[in-house]
Amino acid sequence: MKPSPTYDITRSYEANYQEGPFLKEKPPARQIRKKVKFLGFDVNSRLGIPAGPLLNSRWIIAYAELGFDLLVYKTVRTAATPSHPDPNCMFLQWKGPLTEKDFGKRLIASMESPSSVEEISITNSFGMPSRDPKIWQEDIGRAKGGIGDGQLLIVSVVGTPGEKDLAEDYARAARLAAEAGAPVVEINLSCPNVVTGEGSVYTDPVFSSEISRRVKQAIGSVPLIIKIGYISDPSRLEKVVAANAPHVDAISGLNTLSFEVVNPDGTQALPGKGRLRSGVCGAAIRSCAMTQAKRIVDLKQKEKYDFEIVGVGGVMTSAHVREFLGVGVDAVMTATGAMWDPFLAYRYWQEEAGR
Ligand SMILES: Cc1cc2nc3c(=O)[nH]c(=O)nc-3n(C[C@H](O)[C@H](O)[C@H](O)COP(=O)(O)O)c2cc1C
Repeated sequence: MKPSPTYDITRSYEANYQEGPFLKEKPPARQIRKKVKFLGFDVNSRLGIPAGPLLNSRWIIAYAELGFDLLVYKTVRTAATPSHPDPNCMFLQWKGPLTEKDFGKRLIASMESPSSVEEISITNSFGMPSRDPKIWQEDIGRAKGGIGDGQLLIVSVVGTPGEKDLAEDYARAARLAAEAGAPVVEINLSCPNVVTGEGSVYTDPVFSSEISRRVKQAIGSVPLIIKIGYISDPSRLEKVVAANAPHVDAISGLNTLSFEVVNPDGTQALPGKGRLRSGVCGAAIRSCAMTQAKRIVDLKQKEKYDFEIVGVGGVMTSAHVREFLGVGVDAVMTATGAMWDPFLAYRYWQEEAGR
């Protein structure tokens, strides 16, 4: 599939927020046959977009019209936070899957797009920008009102390190989202852990579950999804899942993989302090994403957990959607794929109708 980006990586986050998405055409309307369940909601499909590409209600509504039925509002915070400077996304020159033996390598990036969506892997770094809660709360109302029957809005929030009590800031953000009418809240646990200093919150069973417990308390009956990154050690993953299971309705992952990213001449690719390391997503992470999804499916079966599982990472085609569903996840989401192939859901639907 030839790339047809809706997000302009040559422009700032702010320009994309104000003017995007940049859609060249709309697909024809879909024929909806029967609804399926996700987190207790009747939805048209279990295909969606994870936190990231949908910057505000205009993006949510545009992708809803494109046939993505689970729509995650890009992560917001309890206080206005600016974006890192552009570029916020660059293409990686990496071919094939990234595996654990590649962790620690430096990857090379450029602004030159591969010719096919299937080959696209990118690095992204935004710093989780956020409007002031008043603004995003109003916008959640617009997003909710603008999507169709059988489509579900999910709002992603994050606590801000440096706040006195990080878990409380997560709970506050989640409460603000629920008060604004979010049908489902997701918390992004892949933010730096300021408590133990050993990587990200999601790798710490004790602290991550303290956050999910406090958030669940704050939002009551609103379903809670936790978003996690890759955990190499299966026994640590087992501990994280076990500790969070009592508090969560779904686990979503992967978030991006963290790598050092440089220009072809070896200099830092993304400008600014602290940005030598950035998140990698798209085709290259599908293998890790499927490995972890399978591990969580196995844990769920073994321990009879009742949470649902959202597979994310490297879904670039409708065949990849089916591959993930084949592993046993309840829903599948695509960020990079949907940014460069906005018709991905439409084609998935067409193929499903013909099966
Ligand atoms: C442009 C962009 C922005 C993102 N922003 C967020 C974010 O704000 N919060 C979050 O939890 N994940 C964010 N992500 C990560 C995605 O949700 C997803 O976990 C990751 O990109 C892997 O999926 P993919 O291979 O389909 O892109 C972002 C990804 C992209 C591409």
